[in-house]
Amino acid sequence: MEQDKNNAINATIKDVARLAKVSIATVSRILNGKETVSPHLVERVMSAVEELRYQPNAVARALKVRESLSMGLIIPDIENPFFPALVRGVEDAAQMHDYSVILCNTDGKPAEEERYIRFLYNKRVDGILFTGGRYSDDNVAMLATLSIPVVLLDRRVGSQLSTVVTDNYLGGFMATEHLIKRGRSRIAFISGPPELSSVQTRREGYVQALRQHGLSYGEELVLPGDFTFESGHRAAARLIADGLSVDAFFAANDMMAIGAIEYLRAYGIRVPEEIAAVGYDDIRMAAWYKPSLTTVRQPVYQMGQCAVRRMLELVSGGVRRYSEEVLRPELVIRDSSGSRGGKEQ
Ligand code: RIB
Repeated sequence: MEQDKNNAINATIKDVARLAKVSIATVSRILNGKETVSPHLVERVMSAVEELRYQPNAVARALKVRESLSMGLIIPDIENPFFPALVRGVEDAAQMHDYSVILCNTDGKPAEEERYIRFLYNKRVDGILFTGGRYSDDNVAMLATLSIPVVLLDRRVGSQLSTVVTDNYLGGFMATEHLIKRGRSRIAFISGPPELSSVQTRREGYVQALRQHGLSYGEELVLPGDFTFESGHRAAARLIADGLSVDAFFAANDMMAIGAIEYLRAYGIRVPEEIAAVGYDDIRMAAWYKPSLTTVRQPVYQMGQCAVRRMLELVSGGVRRYSEEVLRPELVIRDSSGSRGGKEQ
């Protein structure tokens, strides 16, 4: 067995032959789909491959019988409307190329991420599209050891694998600058999980917009959240409990923005008259909610399409493993960031 820099155990063809008690030539013939091997030997070799999670090197895979015409898509939260929209983009692009998609929801749990990575690899998918949860570094390192293409979606982790993201710094800047131009000067930030690159860059854009417009920024203006509706509720409660006299907030996603507005409204605080609100994603509910939510629209469908295109380029070979595509977000202005008088200016 070889142990690589990421401590991933890479079984070799020799390990497979030893466990299956056959020659290396027999293993090679079976993995390259030669018919002249007895079924019971094939069974022995394939169970050894499965047990050792043997990952044929790039050359062996290039010789493999044929693509499975399937790809894995790993997402962290099937209940957040952002991700079904991403799945739609992936699915439509995959079907265009006769590929099937195996969808895996991990609830952002590293153990679930690892389980699904191994599951998909053993199913011999041709590639994996991955949106990690909070603590995905080890799993991304493991993905980087696989001999199949992997594309990261939405969140940067390291720089070994192709990635498709939104320009979240620009998104955070636009959201905050919009509130400033609407005359708000004490703006809170409702954060998502701080470990995520998508959250870090939105926050950086928020801070830069405040500073560029000469407004004060302090840690007390940053409220913890985890991208859920409930955490938006909790953030609004904290705003009130801490006596923070803010006149606006920018939430790192729409679910938290809506949760915060619901709490403020129940507490008798009017949005946008007293506190203006901006979210992020532009989920379908954003336009229907009352007040309709000003938000930063992510090109989520395009993100899914780009990721599939990149994966297929890698499957066909001949391109570098690492590339980064940064898609442009768009500010969508609605009622939740109206003027203090509550009417659009
Ligand atoms: O709403 C879920 C969030 O997780 C989205 O903003 C998406 O960008 C991902 O980071």
